[in-house]
Amino acid sequence: MIELIKRLPKAELHLHIEGSLEPELMFRLSKKNHIDIPYNSIEDVREAYNFTNLQTFLDIYYAGAKVLITEDDFYDLTWEYILKCVENNIIHTEIFFDPQTHTDRGIAFETVITGISNALADAKEKYGITSCIIMCFLRHLSQEEALATLEQSLAFKHHIVGVGLDSSELNNPPSKFIEVFSRAKQEGFKLVAHAGEEADFSYIYEALDLLEIERIDHGVQSIKSPALLKRLKEEQIPLTVCPNSNIELKVFDSYQQHNIKQLLDYGLNVSVNSDDPAYFKGYINQNFINLYENIDLSAADIITLVKNSFRSAFIDDELKQAYLARVDEAV
Ligand code: HPA
Ligand code: ZN
Repeated sequence: MIELIKRLPKAELHLHIEGSLEPELMFRLSKKNHIDIPYNSIEDVREAYNFTNLQTFLDIYYAGAKVLITEDDFYDLTWEYILKCVENNIIHTEIFFDPQTHTDRGIAFETVITGISNALADAKEKYGITSCIIMCFLRHLSQEEALATLEQSLAFKHHIVGVGLDSSELNNPPSKFIEVFSRAKQEGFKLVAHAGEEADFSYIYEALDLLEIERIDHGVQSIKSPALLKRLKEEQIPLTVCPNSNIELKVFDSYQQHNIKQLLDYGLNVSVNSDDPAYFKGYINQNFINLYENIDLSAADIITLVKNSFRSAFIDDELKQAYLARVDEAV
C-alpha cells in the first residue's frame, strides 16, 4: 500500500506556499536578511510547532513568513516545495499564497508573485510539473483590505487563476467578503474558500451561496449536516481535505477519529492535501501513509482520492483525461 501511495501520480489542491517554509530555509533567510526569529536552533523550531488550534499555528506561521524579503527568497521557497513535489510524485499543484502577509510588511506584490511564478515556470520546464496560483485573502482583515489587494493583483492577473479565503476562521464568516468575491468573479477568477475547518457547517453554506465558490477547502464540519452532505454529494463539490493539518490543529483528536473515510463512503468528492507541510510533519505522501496506517483505507479508496484531486483541478479537460490515464497506468 505504501508503494502504491508513492507510485501514484498526484495533484495537490490545498497548499499554502508560506506553509512549506522549512526551518532550515527559515534560518538561512533570517541570517541573510537580518530578521530575528525567536528560535536558537532547528530543534527549537520543531519544538515550537506544538499547536492547540488554528490560531496558535497562525501566530507562528505569520512570524516565520517575515524572513521572506526578496524575489529570490520567494523563488527559493517555491523551488524547495517543487523538489518535494518531485519526491512525492505530485505532477500538478495549485498553490495558495497570502499577498497581505507580505505587502503589509512593505514587500511589493510584484516581488512575491514574480518569485513564485518564476519557480513554477522552471518546474514546468525542468520536471514537467504543471501548476497554478491562487491568491488568498486574510479573513481576519477587513473586506476593504481584501478589495485593495484584489485591485493590486490585476496587473499580475496572467499569473493568478483564482482567489481563496484563509486565516482565522472563527468569527470571520464568508459573509464578510461577499463584495470582494463578487468582484473577483467579474474579473474571471476561480473562487475557493476555507470553510468548515474549525467553524461550523453554516460557513460552508455561506461560502457556496454567498461567495459562489467552486471548491471548499477543508469542509470536514459538513459531517454535522445531513442536508449539506446530500447537496455536496449531488453537486460533487470538491472538499480539499488536509488530514495532518486537522490532527496537528486538533480539529480531530486522532487519525482514527478523522472523518475522511465517512465522507468518501458517502460519495463526496474529497481529496488529500498537505496544507502547510513544513509545520504539520509531512508532505502529501505522509498524509496518505498516516491515513492508511490509522484507518481502514483500501487501495480503491486511495485511488479514488487521487483521482478526485485531478477531477477537481483547475485544468482543461484534455489535460485532466491525460492525468487520469497516468493514474490508471500507475495502478
Ligand atoms: N486554515 C486557515 N488559514 C490557513 C491555513 C489553514 O489551514 N493554513 C494557512 N493559512
Ligand atoms: Zn489551508
